[in-house]
Amino acid sequence: SMTTEASASSAANPLSEPCIMLIFGASGDLTKRLLVPSLYNLTCDGLLSDKFAVLGVGRSELTDGQFRASMASEADGLPKFHTRKEYDQGQGEKLINRFHFSSANIAVEDFKKLKLRVSELDAEYGALGNVLFYFAMAPRFFGPLCDTLHAAGFQDGPGWKRIIVEKPFGTDLQSALKLNQEILRHWREEQIFRVDHYLGKETVQNLLAFRFSNGMFEPLWNNHHIDNIQFNVCESVDVQGRGGYYDSSGVLRDMIQNHMFQMLSYLCMEPPGSFEADSIRNEKAKLLESVRIYQPEEVPQYVVRGQYGPSFPEYGEPDKPGYRQEKDVKPDSDTETFAAIRLHIDNRRWAGVPVYLRSGKALWKRGTEIVVTFKHPPAAVMRGTQVEKLEPNRLIFHIQPKQGIELVFQAKVPGPTVQLQNVDMSFSYGNAFKASRYTGYEVMFYSCMRGDATLFSRGDLVKAAWRIAQPLLDYWQATPTGKEFPNYARNSWGPPSASALIERDGRRWYEVITPEVLEMSPLFKGGEPVFLNAVIMALQPRSFSPGQTIIKADDTAGEMYLVCRGSVEVTDK
Ligand code: BG6
Repeated sequence: SMTTEASASSAANPLSEPCIMLIFGASGDLTKRLLVPSLYNLTCDGLLSDKFAVLGVGRSELTDGQFRASMASEADGLPKFHTRKEYDQGQGEKLINRFHFSSANIAVEDFKKLKLRVSELDAEYGALGNVLFYFAMAPRFFGPLCDTLHAAGFQDGPGWKRIIVEKPFGTDLQSALKLNQEILRHWREEQIFRVDHYLGKETVQNLLAFRFSNGMFEPLWNNHHIDNIQFNVCESVDVQGRGGYYDSSGVLRDMIQNHMFQMLSYLCMEPPGSFEADSIRNEKAKLLESVRIYQPEEVPQYVVRGQYGPSFPEYGEPDKPGYRQEKDVKPDSDTETFAAIRLHIDNRRWAGVPVYLRSGKALWKRGTEIVVTFKHPPAAVMRGTQVEKLEPNRLIFHIQPKQGIELVFQAKVPGPTVQLQNVDMSFSYGNAFKASRYTGYEVMFYSCMRGDATLFSRGDLVKAAWRIAQPLLDYWQATPTGKEFPNYARNSWGPPSASALIERDGRRWYEVITPEVLEMSPLFKGGEPVFLNAVIMALQPRSFSPGQTIIKADDTAGEMYLVCRGSVEVTDK
């Protein structure tokens, strides 16, 4: 499989189909950092056809030799950005020797020359007329690229022609529809492959395998048994110098409308008729179409936005700037770097089950996870024991950095009386499979080169996703944040209003604590994994109101508190 090291092609994993790959915007960062390392992984795994070449296209005047030298550069080329343990120079050269470069503007005359160059390469490499176009450029160029490729006659002749389009696909519903129209003016939907790199993640793809290839979970996958679902994408990084882009985007466009809605559709869609691309894509689009579209006036009830301010000096680090002080960000920017949303899925399976989404930058920890909380068991059977309340079962999908699945349930603590504690059954990818680190793009190239569109977004899904996001954008646009922003400090847990949002429903955010999170405290630094895991399992969520005393100096308590969200004050000696 794609996760196994040195998989080499086989009947189950045949070689990619021959093709010439044109990368528009080849001198940009994406090519070096992601595209080439991914092609390299496919080469090392023996999955890339020998009848393959790359033609980089850009406005700069580069010779093939210069282009190759820049891709092979020790300082900022493949040797630096590859993702494997060791760089295999032989494999690297084998790949990069197939790289060529042509300078062109987006103009029919230039593209006709480009087409001649592609024909030459096609003859040299035996690519059967197959051409893959990769648009690694800003979306405003997608329409003109499509038109000009068509006008230059790129669709003629034998072989397939496919286009990979990078995100963002539109900046709102209207622009996405327009972009779709422009792209589909001369091309067919089957030729368009819209990238969402979350679909390249093994742990995301595994959601489908988990649900539909196991007998015991799917029967519980509905509003009879599930109380709520939470999607968390916490990032500890800030905008990392991408302020210019981010300030016109924000977390809803950058993370939620695309990546998180993809996960949502995988987790909640109906079983597809088969694993055929369109069968799966039909169900995904259907699911997003069943999500309730809010009226603008409902937005404040179900949605919270946030923006990070500077860090507190007390955290022991030098003060880092708030979002509004970042490079290329407007000093009075209203762009949200955090959002929490409650969604309703108005179909038979999910009616009444709240779905909570939360994502932000510059938060206290990094972690992407999905938490499925089952209904509370009735507690009557425990009457007369010391057990006061029963915790619900939880299924946690750890997407990253930890990769695995965990089922949390209760077990009796050894001893003469009945006491319960959370324990878990845990599957970790790292323990079960020998896997190389992948960028996520490998499987997307590979499947595009084989004509499999499963991992790409179809136009109807993109549209359904923007329809959900649009009222939020409209409401925010119409409601300046004024003095409300920034409303959370760097390295904190996000704005308090995000907790209020879910606590109103009598629920709370389930904070996934991993050994890495515990080790942020000096007390646990370098602790044995088994010990850290035991601590994590023994943790119970408690919340305190402002002003409440948690513990006094001389209390003889068998408890220890870890402050996960909020801050405490030490008032006695
Ligand atoms: C990108 C966003 O699409 O996804 C970034 O533009 C974000 O802002 C990134 O950091 C997160 O991807 P991953 O794979 O690190 O979760």
